[in-house]
Amino acid sequence: MTISIIVHGGAKTISEDKVEANNAGCLAAVEAGWKVLKNGGTAPEAVEAAVRVLEGDPTFNTSMGAVLNDQGEVELDAAIMEGANFGWGGVAAVKGIPHPISVARKIMDKKPMLLVSYGAEHFAKDHGIEMCPSKELIAKEQREEWEQEKEVTDRPNTVGCVALDSQGVLAAGTSTGGIMNQHQCRVGDSAVIGSGLFADNKYGACSTTGDGESIIPVVLAKTAIDFLAGDKHPDKAAQMAIETLKSKVTGEAGCILIDPQGRVGWAHNSSDMACAYMTDSHEKPAVFTKKTSGSGRL
Ligand code: GLY
Repeated sequence: MTISIIVHGGAKTISEDKVEANNAGCLAAVEAGWKVLKNGGTAPEAVEAAVRVLEGDPTFNTSMGAVLNDQGEVELDAAIMEGANFGWGGVAAVKGIPHPISVARKIMDKKPMLLVSYGAEHFAKDHGIEMCPSKELIAKEQREEWEQEKEVTDRPNTVGCVALDSQGVLAAGTSTGGIMNQHQCRVGDSAVIGSGLFADNKYGACSTTGDGESIIPVVLAKTAIDFLAGDKHPDKAAQMAIETLKSKVTGEAGCILIDPQGRVGWAHNSSDMACAYMTDSHEKPAVFTKKTSGSGRL
């Protein structure tokens, strides 16, 4: 049985000086997830491992690199879903949790729920999940940009991972710091099943990135999975999902997909989107910061 993994570092403009950091971060994430899959781990384990790497990297807009809300705080959303039994878990507007994807995974394993704010924080504490003073997640660069009310155009939005394990189980996970200066307790698409992620072993799994207010009404992740019907290539389905979003709403978005055969696909209408993937048919991971013709079809 084939194994496969793809990660994204968010849809946005990536300035030249940040290309290397985006490539390195996505590569490290895909390698972490791949190692789990190669050792016989499950797709949710691989997704969690990969997303944790991205959460720990200040290059990306979640956890250590999260943008600040209108109160100068870091609030995070994350969710995970597996496609065998439709298990899922999510957290939203949480503070002081360096790896919200791990809380989401714990919720999925216990009882599927979307927990918000202090309810999710209490859950994390009760289950021995790593926590920290909320100020520790505020990166210097983010604090300065927020204080100076800088117009920032190159802040990527959200990270995610999709994986297929050796048992044929698909999983998707998404984690975000949301949108810069967002209203306190605003919740975007990333923790919303169907919009920020979806997994169904029969058709495929997807993680999305971009403007939550645009992604939610087009239910982007589920829309992308629906386009996989009829054995469509995931690259085609990803492109069709982004075209659908473009035809209905304004906003930037991207998505990554894997189908049950382990084929990967990705698309975005933002200027850039960091992405890396690895499959059985690759000798080493492929890494990109932009989709161009020929980059990333398998
Ligand atoms: N996609 C992340 C957000 O809109 O919050």
